[in-house]
Amino acid sequence: MTSVHLDPQARMLTLAWPDGQEARFPYLWLKDNDPAAFHPDTAERIGDLLSVPLDVAPTKARIDNDNLELFWPGEAAPSQIALAWLCEHAPGRALHDFADVPTHAWRQVDPAELPRASAETLIADEAALSDWMTQAKAWGLALVEGLADDPDAGIEIGRRIGFLRQTNFGLIFEVRSKPDPNNLAYTAEALPLHTDLPNQDLPPGYQFLHCLANDADGGGSVFADGVALAEALRAADPEAFALLAETPVPFRFHDRDYDIRSRKPTIVTDATGQVTEICWNAHIAGVIDLPPERIAPFYAAYRAFMALTRDPSFQVSFTLAPGQMVVFDNRRVLHGRAAFDPSTGRRHLRGFYVDRGEWDSRLRVLLRRAASKPS
Ligand code: OGA
Ligand code: ZN
Repeated sequence: MTSVHLDPQARMLTLAWPDGQEARFPYLWLKDNDPAAFHPDTAERIGDLLSVPLDVAPTKARIDNDNLELFWPGEAAPSQIALAWLCEHAPGRALHDFADVPTHAWRQVDPAELPRASAETLIADEAALSDWMTQAKAWGLALVEGLADDPDAGIEIGRRIGFLRQTNFGLIFEVRSKPDPNNLAYTAEALPLHTDLPNQDLPPGYQFLHCLANDADGGGSVFADGVALAEALRAADPEAFALLAETPVPFRFHDRDYDIRSRKPTIVTDATGQVTEICWNAHIAGVIDLPPERIAPFYAAYRAFMALTRDPSFQVSFTLAPGQMVVFDNRRVLHGRAAFDPSTGRRHLRGFYVDRGEWDSRLRVLLRRAASKPS
């Protein structure tokens, strides 16, 4: 039987489960998470934390079947909190998250090894979709094959995952050589490895490029894992890594209708030092406006990262064929392409984005559904 113990000194309650697990719960935390403080339909918190004194303490606690019952001064009915819920949510334990996929950092790899799935299975089979999305998130790069001969076939897959992210280039953008281009991608020039739109307050998450035609000479695709590049820099030159993690670079896109600017460090790390994002786009980097004495050390670090982006031992290259779509985490994996010769044939990719938050939400719902299904 689960036992409960109050520690008025520490203002915490200890639960000890029969299997030996133990967890401590601060009194105010328990009050803040009382199920009665949540709306029964929306599951949103409606209790007012400020109506509870900071030093609130239960007068009594006991186990009633599968619940912890807490009696509070001046309140007739006790709080009832499920023991299973308390075990899962105990302070200090990370809550299980189906979208928490470990990063698989990669260097040069045979394209045949990349995660891939057929469009047909992704449309028809939720388990196949969640497997592919999990792999695509781990690698930051995956393929979809066998798309129908329909310009909207890629979008159909994207919409199965989440809302498309609109930008100044539209909800959907057509990547081909165009007259009067406002973006290097819309020329036939080579595109060095980059991430799209670091000039946006929130750069777009997953990028989808559906190949509709690719028979011009050239135009091969190239990708590199920004996490692998950043970790290589951290290992070789920790000071350069630190400089790129703490120095925001100004990025800017401007044309007749827009002037979109943001400052982003090249390498973004989380509280534990893990690399969570790369913002790398030398062609839309603005004017470096650091104080003069900081410019040379910055350039040294920036060039060290740039040199890594040119190193084939970090790259995977392949030529997309019509009916294929490449999908990558634009905030992690750098993409580029070789120049092509528009006089020799057509090259047309249809692009769109789905943000990371949409992707993760979809993955959670798919996996949550699968976990609750009896197998
Ligand atoms: C882009 C881009 C790559 C390509 O549209 O952002 O980088 O292969 N395109 O044309
Ligand atoms: Zn791009």
